[in-house]
Amino acid sequence: MGPLDPSDDSGLFRRKDLLGLRFLAASEITHILDVAEQFRGLNLRSIKKVPTLRGKSVVHLFLEPSTRTRTSFDIAAKRMSADTFSISGGASSATKGETLMDTARNLAAMHPDIIVIRHSRAGGAAAVAKALPDTSIINAGDGACEHPTQGLLDLLTIRRALGGFRGRVVTIIGDITHSRVARSNIHGLVKVGAIVRVCGPPTLIPAGIEELGVQVHHTLQTAMHGADVLMALRIQKERIPRGGHFFPTTREYSRLYGINRDKLRRWGNKDVVVMHPGPINRGIELEPEVADGEWSVILNQVENGVAVRMACLYLALGGERAAAQEGRG
Ligand code: CP
Repeated sequence: MGPLDPSDDSGLFRRKDLLGLRFLAASEITHILDVAEQFRGLNLRSIKKVPTLRGKSVVHLFLEPSTRTRTSFDIAAKRMSADTFSISGGASSATKGETLMDTARNLAAMHPDIIVIRHSRAGGAAAVAKALPDTSIINAGDGACEHPTQGLLDLLTIRRALGGFRGRVVTIIGDITHSRVARSNIHGLVKVGAIVRVCGPPTLIPAGIEELGVQVHHTLQTAMHGADVLMALRIQKERIPRGGHFFPTTREYSRLYGINRDKLRRWGNKDVVVMHPGPINRGIELEPEVADGEWSVILNQVENGVAVRMACLYLALGGERAAAQEGRG
């Protein structure tokens, strides 16, 4: 009995909103991954469209730039036959000073079933979810707080590469302080039993992060030792306050924390996999020989993003409950 089987009424994700992996139980996370795994198969067929969300409408409200997240949410919704509407920051009335809450309330007045929100303010999506009891909200990135669907697609990629999580070592390298991707991965990976290390200069690792259950390293060699996964992060220049200096120079940062073939051969596990959420700053956190090399699962992450977002839209819209009711009827 699979997660999309109508006779399976054990749906473990019964929430209106997906706001962060810190709110989910391990069982909810693995359930979303199981559902995504089934949608992965659909994405490999020649005809990729199913009627699952016919009659539903999904608004993508992206008030920060995006390539991967926005496109994959749009593809995910369209492959399930939902009607989709996209609003970007530069083309919205946010440029005239409208607040996120006013924008969301006005969109909700048009009765979409779900609004996917990316915004620079931590807690922005959660505030909207609280104010709109009849509209599902999916957080597509809120400031430096969380990016839950990125965390989920990363977990799916790791599970597919390694076969599971328990006892596996995942090292997240770079700008941990300003990274919502790091936070969602930490919450998700710790819950499913992985050993999580973070590595970077002390200026880019927030004080007290050990309380989230991670080990802190400041040297790449020790952080890479025995790691099954290396997840490189981009320096989040857009979140660093003007005049803020977190490392001496980009060249120095790359020398200490950038991953190249030589470091992988000297310090890496034989079967280590390299991940990056994108966009990559080639030559800074990853050399092209690594980003495009045999270690890289970066495009697998992107591929899995569509399936994960299909699963999240389907579950948030109660597709599982509806399928179970139809199965009983
Ligand atoms: N990983 C990620 O969030 O990429 P985009 O900013 O292109 O959506």
